[in-house]
Amino acid sequence: MTGNTSGRRNVADLAHVIGIERPIVLGPFGGHSSVELAAAVSERGGLGSYGLYGYDAERILETAAALRAATRRPFAFNLWLPHEEATDVTEADFDVYARALQPFFDELGLELPERPGRYLPDFDTQFAAVLETRPSVVSFVFGVPPADVVDAAHGRGITVVATATTVDEAVALASGGVDVVVATGSEAGGHRVAFLLPAEESLVGTFALVPQVADAVDVPVIAAGGIADRRGVAAAFALGARGVQVGTAFLRTAQSAASEAHRRAIIGASAHGTVLTRAMSGRLARGIPNRAIREIERGGLIAPFPVQNWLTGRFRAEAGRRGIGELQSLWAGQAAPLARHADANAVFDELLRGVPA
Ligand SMILES: Cc1cc2nc3c(=O)[nH]c(=O)nc-3n(C[C@H](O)[C@H](O)[C@H](O)COP(=O)(O)O)c2cc1C
Repeated sequence: MTGNTSGRRNVADLAHVIGIERPIVLGPFGGHSSVELAAAVSERGGLGSYGLYGYDAERILETAAALRAATRRPFAFNLWLPHEEATDVTEADFDVYARALQPFFDELGLELPERPGRYLPDFDTQFAAVLETRPSVVSFVFGVPPADVVDAAHGRGITVVATATTVDEAVALASGGVDVVVATGSEAGGHRVAFLLPAEESLVGTFALVPQVADAVDVPVIAAGGIADRRGVAAAFALGARGVQVGTAFLRTAQSAASEAHRRAIIGASAHGTVLTRAMSGRLARGIPNRAIREIERGGLIAPFPVQNWLTGRFRAEAGRRGIGELQSLWAGQAAPLARHADANAVFDELLRGVPA
């Protein structure tokens, strides 16, 4: 890993490492991924990613089958690594955190939920299911995948991708045997996936982050955060990226699993109209502010992840069904106003125009 500002080191391109024709990656959306959108991007020669946050083994197998029915091209499955900060709380504290959210449950006519046996499926079980389905790529967030996980993926011919929010994280990932690093700037929509320092201390913008990561690691770098049209793609390549990962611009399209209210919020957002908050999940994430964020922040009581995410998830699901955007997580990035296209193919065409010949 040597510093090098020439940008001409012999780093493999994504076509070699992942086997895709176009260096355009659809970012995974935990809870908002759709087979239709992932397959659409893969069919165009890019890499469709599908977020498996909260999925048990059965759902992972079903999703793989649905993706394979929709496309024969490579796709990526995305998992959240278990995180040290992810703690349970006592029964008494759970009740306090739940009661702080009572007005939202009351508003929707829902009972306050009881403390669950577990908040998330077991990671090892999820990963075993992913291995069984043999996606072309498995991508991870919130840490360096353990050596046995990387080895098991490689043993089945699966490329390993992981995400960094700082240069130090990128170096840790490359040292850990990851094949491709996603460098995600603080413009990005969704969770800040920092793992070495608190997320609040890992807020580097894409323009500063990508060239420094490209200099620091010898694996291909995919730029993420704030890229929504050909200009962003061209800039990312000029900064040393070998590919781009796009979230918000695809989330807005008809093929995504975002709710109608979420899509409308993205369409109506301004560049300064997103915030970073821990209110909805207990972890820092970027989205469009709404009443839920404002009231939870005002109350000042936020359970640690994954407890807060589980708790708000009980009323968010109902709000989603009823089309109430004020009580959902409206994750989106700072480039939301550039998300102009309602069709994923139009987004892909636009991005493709920025890829250097
Ligand atoms: C609703 C939403 C959910 C997301 N969930 C995940 C996830 O589960 N795993 C992950 O690696 N990235 C996740 N991301 C990040 C995206 O995959 C992508 O990297 C990011 O949106 C890129 O920045 P952009 O929004 O500025 O395009 C999510 C983003 C959004 C908007």
